[in-house]
Amino acid sequence: MSKPYRPKDHFFQKAKTEGYRARSAFKMEELANRFHVLRKGARVLDLGAAPGGFLQVISDAVGPTGMAVGVDIVPIRPFAAPHVKTAVLDVLADDFHAKLDALEPGPFDAVISDMAPKTSGIRTTDEARSLRLAGRALETALRSGKPGSTFIAKLFMGGGFEEFRDELRAHYQDVKVVRPEATRGASMEVYLVALKLKGPRP
Ligand SMILES: C[S@@+](CC[C@H](N)C(=O)[O-])C[C@H]1O[C@@H](n2cnc3c(N)ncnc32)[C@H](O)[C@@H]1O
Repeated sequence: MSKPYRPKDHFFQKAKTEGYRARSAFKMEELANRFHVLRKGARVLDLGAAPGGFLQVISDAVGPTGMAVGVDIVPIRPFAAPHVKTAVLDVLADDFHAKLDALEPGPFDAVISDMAPKTSGIRTTDEARSLRLAGRALETALRSGKPGSTFIAKLFMGGGFEEFRDELRAHYQDVKVVRPEATRGASMEVYLVALKLKGPRP
C-alpha cells in the first residue's frame, strides 16, 4: 500500500536542517550518486528548476569550473555563485531555444528536467501534460547535449510512457527507470535516466 502524503515528512525536515530549498534536492543527490552524472567542471542544464533544490546539488557538484543553468516559468531566487545562471523561461514557448541560446548556448554534459505541470486532478490530462514537458526536455537535450551526455526527465507514469522510453533508447546507449527514495509515497512520478547520447552517424 502507498504511504500517505505527509507534507512535513523526513525529507522535508532534512532539507530544512541541511539548508536545501526543497526536499527534491535528495532526489538529485541520489540520482547523481547512483549514475555518476555530475562531475567537477561539467555544464548542466536544469529545466523546471524553481525553487532550486536540484540546482543547489548540481552547482555544488560541478563547482566553479563548471556551469549550472536553471530555468523555470517562475523566478528562482538568485544564487550567489557566479557559475550558476538562472532565468524565467517557458520551456514550451516557441522561442525557448533562442532564449536559452542567448542565456547559455551549451553544449551541456547533462540536461535534467524535473518539470511538472500544474495538476488538474484528471489523471489522463496530467499524464499528457507531463509527457509534453518531458518531450520538450528531450528535444532540448538532443539539440543542446554533447555526444555522450546524460538526460534525466521526470514523468508521470501513464499513457505514452513506454513510447517515450523507447524514444530515449533510440538516442541513448542506456536507459533506466528510477523512483528515488525521496519521492512521496503516493506520487506516480518516475525519472528516466538516459546515459551516453549517441553521436551523429558516421
Ligand atoms: C517539482 S518542481 C521543480 C523542483 C526543482 N527541481 C527543485 O529541486 O527545486 C516543477 C517545476 O516545473 C516548472 N514548470 C512547469 N512547466 C514549465 C514550463 N513550461 N517551463 C519551465 N518550467 C516549468 C514549475 O514551475 C515548477 O517549478
